[in-house]
Amino acid sequence: MEQLLQQIEGYKQEAAAYTATDADAVEAYRIKYLGTKGIVKAVMAEMRNVPNENKKAFGQILNEFKLFIESKYDALKDAAAPSAANTQDDIDWSLPGDDFAVGTRHPLTVVRNQIVSIFKRLGFAVAEGPEIEDDWHNFGAMNLPEDHPARDMQDTFYINQNPAWLLRTHTSSVQARVMEKQKPPIRVICPGRVYRNETISARAHCFFHQVEGLCIDEHVSFADLKQTLYFFVQEMFGKDVRVRFRPSYFPFTEPSAEMDISCLICGGSGCNVCKHTGWVEILGSGMVHPKVLENFNIDPNKYTGFAFGMGIERVCQLKYRVNDLRLYSQNDVRFLRQFTGVV
Ligand code: DAH
Repeated sequence: MEQLLQQIEGYKQEAAAYTATDADAVEAYRIKYLGTKGIVKAVMAEMRNVPNENKKAFGQILNEFKLFIESKYDALKDAAAPSAANTQDDIDWSLPGDDFAVGTRHPLTVVRNQIVSIFKRLGFAVAEGPEIEDDWHNFGAMNLPEDHPARDMQDTFYINQNPAWLLRTHTSSVQARVMEKQKPPIRVICPGRVYRNETISARAHCFFHQVEGLCIDEHVSFADLKQTLYFFVQEMFGKDVRVRFRPSYFPFTEPSAEMDISCLICGGSGCNVCKHTGWVEILGSGMVHPKVLENFNIDPNKYTGFAFGMGIERVCQLKYRVNDLRLYSQNDVRFLRQFTGVV
């Protein structure tokens, strides 16, 4: 009995001297003293051997011992993980908070949203299609049959696992996706990313962004096409910008035209961006080819339509004077931050 009491006293002193600076040491204490194979349990088990007349007194001693070990455990826990109460005096709550930077919209997103909102005002809805396409939607349906030389205008990435798949080379593929689901009247714009196998430079990239437009109804004419695009240019670039159409060729439109606007960088007097012509091409357009309509069982004798496709990077370049296409995908925050507040 005497020996046991001495032992308990020894444990107490040892526990009292225990220090812990981190959670691991606190846990080691818990296991040593309060664990299932710990000292407290072992000492409690000694109760069996204590003669009956001493049991009451010894029980009290044991209880005190246990409480002592537990309160030491609480103290160690508090010391290792200081609570707010311990540190509150070190904090000056009246100091202003740290500023944190809010991200900016990417300039291409800004311009895409502007384009979309202008066409929405003319009653165009937004349609989207997949970036991984099949040959039919990207080429065949758009009147570019296999071996058509115009396929060379767009250098295509094919998917190795399945050469029937490709990365769409233009958003004209979304025209096909819309026409197979919807019958005229159709009035949609289709923003999205497109891919071409080009060497990356300041003026070319292997992916970029386009907005496709498609309008099909009875009595749609080339005048509608021109007026729609005039409206777009004035809303986008202002009333002073001049526009010209040049005859062109696209397999999916007939007649076809490319549209230029007077160079916004030099105002038309000639610079690097307009290659000293005073004009910059911003889109391709035309009247939807009857074959394209027929591919979707739309009667070309009843319905006509116009379509156009423009590069978002090009619009962005003119609006914000971005001189290198690579800036759009390099994620350089010094570039991106310049669009802070632009929505
Ligand atoms: N898909 C053409 C390209 O990527 C752009 C284009 C031209 C789209 C004429 C059209 C269009 O819808 O009518 O170069």
